[in-house]
Amino acid sequence: PKNIGILAVEIYFPKRYVEQTELEKFDGVSSGKYTIGLGQTRMGVCDDREDINSIALTVVQNLVEKYKISYKDIGRLEVGTETIIDKSKAVKTVLMQLFTESGNTDVMGIDTTNACYGGTAALFNAVHWVESSWWDGRYALVVAGDIAVYASGPARPTGGAGCIALLIGPNAPIVLESGLCGTHMEHAWDFYKPDLSSEFPVVDGHVSNSFYLKSLDTCYNRYIEKLVTKDKSAKPNLGSFDYVLFHVPYCKLVQKAFARLHFNDFVRNPDDQKFQSVSHFKGINIEESLVSKDLEKAFVNLSKGEYTKNVLPALFIATQNGNMYTASLYGSLASLLGEVPSEQLVGKRIGLFSYGSGLAATFFSMKIVDSISTIAKNLDIKNRFDSRVKISPEQFNEIMRLRDESHSKKDFSPVGDKSPVSGSFFEGTYYLTRIDDKWRRSYQRT
Ligand code: ACO
Repeated sequence: PKNIGILAVEIYFPKRYVEQTELEKFDGVSSGKYTIGLGQTRMGVCDDREDINSIALTVVQNLVEKYKISYKDIGRLEVGTETIIDKSKAVKTVLMQLFTESGNTDVMGIDTTNACYGGTAALFNAVHWVESSWWDGRYALVVAGDIAVYASGPARPTGGAGCIALLIGPNAPIVLESGLCGTHMEHAWDFYKPDLSSEFPVVDGHVSNSFYLKSLDTCYNRYIEKLVTKDKSAKPNLGSFDYVLFHVPYCKLVQKAFARLHFNDFVRNPDDQKFQSVSHFKGINIEESLVSKDLEKAFVNLSKGEYTKNVLPALFIATQNGNMYTASLYGSLASLLGEVPSEQLVGKRIGLFSYGSGLAATFFSMKIVDSISTIAKNLDIKNRFDSRVKISPEQFNEIMRLRDESHSKKDFSPVGDKSPVSGSFFEGTYYLTRIDDKWRRSYQRT
């Protein structure tokens, strides 16, 4: 099979959101901290009627309906998530309910977990299957999703929720570039979820940012080495990419990450004309470069124009909805497909950086080889975002309290924050109706 990659994309995000400017006031932090400091505009919110199963059910059923695919034609289904509600039973097995009517139970793949990296691992599993002698000619489906919630405090405004489904197969318009990837994995305690009685992670935000940027350095340089080995005429720098997408813990970190890639190009070729304004950083020690605010500012300034053109179009969903953990990088892809006209995207190379705390990280690339206008039309990003409903910070707090209270409960029917189903969910959304006395969960669809 040739041109293995993404044939279809569907995204689910909550209908309700909280405004970050209102959250700044409510939390009593200085005005601009969340919006300018973190680069976040709004945050999507799920009440106790949504869980990882419901958002995954929603995105898969919506993709299958929009693209008129038969469940019989799916031979592999991989799920990446870090939203764990069961230590044994995979979300994948819950999704098999959707296959019942088709009679197809011959579906390989299961869940994969490591923080925000699980979706990328799932994607590689799916692509490798299609490329292998094990492939049986059917589609693979990758599902990546999370409900990202933090304890009250500085990390809380960087939450969000969402789920992505990517249909994988040959002759795709968005092709994964085979063998081009730089990976870095290491043992780190930057963000983890050891307390199963709580939905919240243990996180040291500043430490995780630093691991994110250090991993980016390593992965990007490994990628560039592979690129120039494979293609002698390739540029060993950002000139090889038309767009760069990142895992988005919050948008401001992505701007710094893109600036950091310029710094890496500068280290490789400090005498390049492009770097005249930052030439005084020549020879700086790498450890020092990671903590120097002057350097960070200088490279953010240097890369501003390219950032606006080559990165910002991919941040629409992230700034409007917040972090979606495993789905975050692929939300950036969905944003790019929705924001840039198809004819401008054909022929373009996209660099992608996936980061999952703990940690696992990869820089890889895709090429858009054919029109993506059907995908953009089906995603319908702008209209769907326009039809969301705002809730107040007080309601948001109440929802967080409800989620906390209902976590790992049994013999229980979630009630949400008393808002009716119609105001809480988009049409076609699955939601949790009951957890019985044996913790078995039931869902309904709007
Ligand atoms: N106007 C404009 N900017 C402001 C304002 C203001 N009023 N107030 C603060 N800022 C700026 C700060 O200068 C700072 O900028 P800088 O990052 O360029 O230095 C930024 O806003 C954030 O302010 P801090 O004081 O650093 O914020 P705090 O320490 O309270 O929290 C943090 C930020 C650590 C990122 C927190 O939100 C967090 O822990 N988030 C989750 C961690 C995370 O996402 N990690 C990433 C990888 S792992 C993953 O994806 C889960």
